[in-house]
Amino acid sequence: MIMSNFQRRPSHLQPIMALLFLCCRIRIACSLAPNLPPLKGNNYHTSHFGPRQNHPTSYDPCPNFLGSIRLEKRWTDDVPSNAPDSSPSSTKAINFDAGRERIRHYYRRKNLPLDSIFGKAEPLTRSSPTRQKLKAIADHLARHDAPVDVKEVCESIEFVLRTRKRLWGAAKQRQRVREPRRRNDEDASSFGDEAMGTEEESIRLYDLCCGHGLTGMLFGCCGAGSDQTRLEIILVDQKRPPSHSVLFDLLSQICPWIADPDSVAFLEADLSSATSLADLSPPPVSVSTAEARRRDPGSVTNLVISTHACGSLTDSVLEVASTDVNGISGTGAAAIAVMPCCYTGTSRGAPHGIQRALGVAWAADIQRSFYLQERGYHSDFSTIPREISPMNRILIGEKGSRQPSHRLQT
Ligand SMILES: C[S@@+](CC[C@H](N)C(=O)[O-])C[C@H]1O[C@@H](n2cnc3c(N)ncnc32)[C@H](O)[C@@H]1O
Repeated sequence: MIMSNFQRRPSHLQPIMALLFLCCRIRIACSLAPNLPPLKGNNYHTSHFGPRQNHPTSYDPCPNFLGSIRLEKRWTDDVPSNAPDSSPSSTKAINFDAGRERIRHYYRRKNLPLDSIFGKAEPLTRSSPTRQKLKAIADHLARHDAPVDVKEVCESIEFVLRTRKRLWGAAKQRQRVREPRRRNDEDASSFGDEAMGTEEESIRLYDLCCGHGLTGMLFGCCGAGSDQTRLEIILVDQKRPPSHSVLFDLLSQICPWIADPDSVAFLEADLSSATSLADLSPPPVSVSTAEARRRDPGSVTNLVISTHACGSLTDSVLEVASTDVNGISGTGAAAIAVMPCCYTGTSRGAPHGIQRALGVAWAADIQRSFYLQERGYHSDFSTIPREISPMNRILIGEKGSRQPSHRLQT
């Protein structure tokens, strides 16, 4: 029918219509695939599709430092600095001992100033910019010869700078979804209980397998981006190392708000005996927190981070974090960010071809990203600078996110 109409048109219009038709086809094709590489003669083939390059959302295996401390390159020249990934095969030449120096020693060696103008650091305020806070904290730790390696300080700072916006964003999203439901419940159950309606937002961030807990405490120092948000940091490890209390004291000198009751708690617990975050909640210190939790157990938004939890411990972290608390739907972590460590045995179950082509580390992390996706998370990867550690990949899962491709790099 269409063809017969087309054929009935005057013959001089036919080439013009054919041209218009062709233009439409090209335009539609371009809008469907705007980022395809340009066609090069007849050599074009789908096997040329690799990861996205030179784009804000590109995956960068060796990103630059965002914090104030920039460690030196630690791999020898037979491994190119733009090595495609951090899989163990491409990290053989890394000197693992470099960076293993106390932060004060590093500042001395680099001639970085150790004395502040006033002899001691001025306390920061909650609203100080995040990078300013993190620099002041690193300087303070160096000045007081904190019992940490510079590598660990850098690792924590870079991890915070690359994950915090996405964690807080997922928490806010969870709170937005829950707020109308909570208001409806309140309307239905009581008319006069004003205290219920004015309850502040509450975020609980767990740092699982935290070691000395510096990473979790830095999140506490940086805050959740709004003064109305009550932020509890729960550090969990099977044992509390003596360095934790030294670090806590130093951090609370410069960020006094983390010394508030219920701001930071350290829980000695075995992750393997926990099924959900409910098994990892220490009793509240303050009466107001206890009351808020009793009234509305689902009012807290949980977030989970974990850095370098060895081997399959990272898988336990993902399982515990993503499981609903007490069976209440939507109470598992709103977002999870883990930076896996050693990979022995972690790729079990991944297809042989993936292990062979991409290596055990990628195979394990791809499997983990599918695990998060199956549990309702938008899952993605980020990285910290490879100078800090060859185990520099971060797996991030965000619940209820709308495919935020524009937010991949913070
Ligand atoms: C490699 S360290 C990482 C520490 C810290 N997150 C960091 O990045 O510096 C691994 C930590 O996991 C803890 N850990 C090992 N098995 C555990 C378990 N079953 N339950 C809780 N913590 C565990 C260890 O005590 C250790 O502190």
